[in-house]
Amino acid sequence: MSEPKPTYRHDYRPPAYRVTHVGLTFELDPAATRVKASLQLERNPEREADAPLELDGEQLILKSIAIDGQPLSGDKYTLGESGLTLHRPPQRFRLDTEVEIAPRENTALEGLYLSNGMYCTQCEAEGFRRITYYPDRPDVMATFSTTVIGDKASLPVLLSNGNPVERGELPGGRHFVTWDDPFPKPSYLFALVAGDLEKVEDRFTTMSGREVTLQIWVEEENLGKTDHAMASLKRAMQWDEETYGREYDLDLFMIVAVNDFNMGAMENKGLNIFNSAAVLTHPHTATDATFQRVEGIVAHEYFHNWSGNRVTCRDWFQLSLKEGFTVFRDQCFSADVNSAPVKRIEDVAFFRTAQFAEDAGPTAHPVRPDHYIEIGNFYTLTIYEKGAEVVRMLCNLVGWEAFRRGSDLYFERFDGQAVTIEDFVECMAKASGQDLSQFMRWYSQAGTPEIDAYGEYDYAHAEYRLTLRQRTPATPGQPDKQPLHIPIRMGLVGTKSGRDLPLTLDGESLGSDGVIHLREEEQTYVFTDVSEAPIPSLLRGFSAPVQLRFPYGREDLAFLLANDSDGFNRWDAGQRLAMLALDDLIAAHRNGVEKVMDPRVVEAFRALLERGGDDKAVLAEMLTLPSEAYIAEQQPLVDVEAIHAARTFVKQSLAVTLRDDFMRVFEENVSDAPYAPEPEQIARRSLKNVALSYLMAIEDEQAIELARRQFEADHNMTDVRHALTLLTHSSRDDLATPALRAFGEKWAHDSLVMDQWFTIQVTRPQPDALDRVKHLMAHPAFSLKNPNKVRALVGAFANQNRINFHRVDGEGYRLLSDVVIELNRLNPEIAARLVTPLTRWQRFDESRQALMKGELERIRAEKLSPNVYEVIEKALA
Ligand code: PHE
Ligand code: ZN
Repeated sequence: MSEPKPTYRHDYRPPAYRVTHVGLTFELDPAATRVKASLQLERNPEREADAPLELDGEQLILKSIAIDGQPLSGDKYTLGESGLTLHRPPQRFRLDTEVEIAPRENTALEGLYLSNGMYCTQCEAEGFRRITYYPDRPDVMATFSTTVIGDKASLPVLLSNGNPVERGELPGGRHFVTWDDPFPKPSYLFALVAGDLEKVEDRFTTMSGREVTLQIWVEEENLGKTDHAMASLKRAMQWDEETYGREYDLDLFMIVAVNDFNMGAMENKGLNIFNSAAVLTHPHTATDATFQRVEGIVAHEYFHNWSGNRVTCRDWFQLSLKEGFTVFRDQCFSADVNSAPVKRIEDVAFFRTAQFAEDAGPTAHPVRPDHYIEIGNFYTLTIYEKGAEVVRMLCNLVGWEAFRRGSDLYFERFDGQAVTIEDFVECMAKASGQDLSQFMRWYSQAGTPEIDAYGEYDYAHAEYRLTLRQRTPATPGQPDKQPLHIPIRMGLVGTKSGRDLPLTLDGESLGSDGVIHLREEEQTYVFTDVSEAPIPSLLRGFSAPVQLRFPYGREDLAFLLANDSDGFNRWDAGQRLAMLALDDLIAAHRNGVEKVMDPRVVEAFRALLERGGDDKAVLAEMLTLPSEAYIAEQQPLVDVEAIHAARTFVKQSLAVTLRDDFMRVFEENVSDAPYAPEPEQIARRSLKNVALSYLMAIEDEQAIELARRQFEADHNMTDVRHALTLLTHSSRDDLATPALRAFGEKWAHDSLVMDQWFTIQVTRPQPDALDRVKHLMAHPAFSLKNPNKVRALVGAFANQNRINFHRVDGEGYRLLSDVVIELNRLNPEIAARLVTPLTRWQRFDESRQALMKGELERIRAEKLSPNVYEVIEKALA
């Protein structure tokens, strides 16, 4: 097979032709769907007069082609594997094509496919080319008119983008609906759904008084699971009006839940398509975390209507233009409607684990990449989450008011256009009057910047000197890095008063919680009039996506944990303190020395438990130890067993010493109020469940009884799932087995709950986890063709069960590569994602390195999809 070729950002050229309007007609059939396309085309004056018209098209059978009604002879076009080229077509013309496609054979879930008997589409990024011949690139924006024809009995519901304008009966028991979308859009936002669906309907009145109909379409048995998504949608619509002045623009907004979906959800114009796991909730089937995730994703997709759809990307290198901005918007929304500090803590904890790992590995890439082989591989934590951090920094740099003016300018200036990241940043520069040229490096440089900080207090002069040095490590293709503009929000906490001291820098007052700007490789900041010896609280709220080191002593961290005025940094001080203790214990484990628990950590935790008064949700976060994945991220070389042993030891030591405190906290927070996914209740549940985790770490009879009762009480899924996880992850199979059986039988009919049942079992630390994965892959509820199942079973094992995935015999690696090889044929996008843990081989000891590389090479020997090929080549480079 010829090697897939990369696409380079610098090769961008505007399209040779623009499409002003598209008419589509679908005659649905599982094995032979007919798609007629009628394109109004116009030569683009920006391009040379003889530029050919390139239409993308894959896996299509061309049935007919005509220009302005005249069938086209074979010498006027070239047909290839990846598309169709028209030589010297007229200046302006109509192109009619008819193709045949086979949705039933489509296991990649890109283009038009069948999910549970229902037709649906996924076109981002390049799926539309599997539906018809078209210039499938985001800078070609057209109005669409779509007629869907299908069997009336089996496909009573026929949906597409925009507004329904005509419907009727056809011979042979068929019917049709025609949809018109008046807003020009790129092909990646096209959508079609057809099936036997039911809807839940609601209304929203926009700020200018227009009535919008809201619909959520689901399979009948899921009708009781849409309330939360609908409520979230209305909150999001209102928030976007109030916060960004953005109003919805069509009369109808639809969400459809589908079971087979590669990602979380998709923002197709007026017809968002959701993975059912990202939209359906019920107190008995979904956890608090799922309720919050659904709220965030519903908002995210809705927000795309402006940041993504009305203003879209010029090319796929600009992906973070829509994704980074929209993630930032959904994070702020979730912070506003829930607990803001907890939202930030959760996001950062995840970011520092997963995005830092990506940025340090072989697939590291800038927020705006320079090249790709398969754009599907670039829906990454860097594009989404780091992109959002960059937008957050921009917002903090220019201040909310200027940011909002910049956002207004962006939407006004570029409405209906496909633009670049520069266009966005330029609006922010214009609105704020700031020079953002150095800031632009955040978009072009990959890798996590490291900041080494140290400080000195000069008692005689009442000065505090803080020195910061930045360095961004080399990443693939980028050996040398330039200094970045890094905003660091900070305070100096007086060691006597426990208060933030006023910050005076170069004679200027920064208040007591200020931002300093690091622009050079190294800078020293001299704070004057510092009346007492301080401890610096740096990078408050995680004001920049960097790794910051400061030589804190353990007393300093315990002090910040108790006194910092910034809730986020209080949490972070606790994490740093726990990390210091964990480092010692990891070393002790490696050296075969007896492990001793640091009493300062115990005392700090005791103080937290006794103090009360804190936001319960924040307290739950503070009591949560860094995950094994995060600990691993902080080690020069990952020692899987030592990390697991050290973390378990800390947990058990805390549980033994503070048992009564945990018991009290548990009891104080039990409640039998009817379930509601609201912040106050969620906070209590998470605090109570953290306490129960500690108690179960020592498995005393009382703790076991509590967990068992919580499971059996069956009050809500958050508590049931937590209890079931604790029972299943305990050392006692006599607890695990009956609980798993009862749960599995009770929920056998509910696919989303069965996913949780899979995950709970394959993440248990016991050595039989790998056998369970194999065994469960044969379970009737499992299917390799369903991405949720693959993630819940194989993905969860490889990413959340480190001690078993990294077995010294390499069996965990082998299992993963076997699945990747099979999925490479079925669903390349999922296969390329699933292989990620193997690509991190450099981080492990030599014998694991050899085993992991061996598996990567075994995969490489297969006939690979471009997706998997690109990842494997990078991993073995
Ligand atoms: N654009 C979608 C989002 O951000 C994600 C997505 C990408 C979904 C590609 C499907 C395919 O919400
Ligand atoms: Zn998105």
